[in-house]
Amino acid sequence: MNDQQFRQLLNRYEFSWAGYRKVRKGVKKRIHRYMKSIECNTMADFLTELDRNNDVRDHCERLMTVSISRFFRDRALWQGLKERILPEFMDVGRKKVRFWSAGCACGEEVYSFKIIWDCMSNTYLHVPELEVLATDINPVHLDRARFALYPPSSLKEVTKVIQSGYFKQKGGKKLFEVKASLKKGITWKNHHLLSDPPGSDFDIIFLRNNVLTYYEERLKKRAFRNVLKSLAPCGILVLGSHEKIPFETTDLTGVEPYPYVFRKIESRSDCIT
Ligand SMILES: C[S@@+](CC[C@H](N)C(=O)[O-])C[C@H]1O[C@@H](n2cnc3c(N)ncnc32)[C@H](O)[C@@H]1O
Repeated sequence: MNDQQFRQLLNRYEFSWAGYRKVRKGVKKRIHRYMKSIECNTMADFLTELDRNNDVRDHCERLMTVSISRFFRDRALWQGLKERILPEFMDVGRKKVRFWSAGCACGEEVYSFKIIWDCMSNTYLHVPELEVLATDINPVHLDRARFALYPPSSLKEVTKVIQSGYFKQKGGKKLFEVKASLKKGITWKNHHLLSDPPGSDFDIIFLRNNVLTYYEERLKKRAFRNVLKSLAPCGILVLGSHEKIPFETTDLTGVEPYPYVFRKIESRSDCIT
């Protein structure tokens, strides 16, 4: 498949060329294999099949997803969460905090969040119950997340202390599994970020390195509106470190000093800034 043909495919889904620049080779290979398996020998045939058959369209969309992630990706964010952002939820008599990882891939950011939360429970007297919803468009990623078995490369930002406290070595010590207690209290759900939100009033939402990277502007805006709708007043929204809000909005205010962390405001006086 040449670049021009790949662009035709991206256009069909309103995916952005920029988002696929680094991962193009691997994605092309997967699609090519799939085209052969359904006996589509040309891109023109394949595009016709995509228009005709929703199953093919959905399957191809899943093959275009990229699961690259790692524990504690963007180290400054995790330090900021622990030291500056999450403390406002602690020791204030709150019963529950609702966290949504939107586009969670194989669970790395979900378990990272749970580790941070667990570490904080050693520092604070009252830590609210954490309710976690983790969603992804790709069921294969969700299965891997439930399984929670990772290669060493996923743990390159994990300190030795965290590794020994929260992971077990498996598979002749070549893989790391997260501790069973971390797997509790997580709802894994298949969900497309262009469809209705899977819940409302989330206190913290992570929307990192997915729709805002891989979609063209129109779809970025649509997905982002859905996510914003489901964020509770004063809730925290975290984007990927290189991502931006896709439209002007007065509903969010920046959380200093992180250009990719925002707080939802109902009326400015209601929120801690
Ligand atoms: C590159 S990973 C990012 C994982 C994690 N959020 C992080 O930042 O490390 C992108 C994930 O988003 C998922 N994804 C892409 N488009 C999506 C959509 N429209 N709805 C839900 N999930 C989507 C992919 O399946 C993939 O698992």
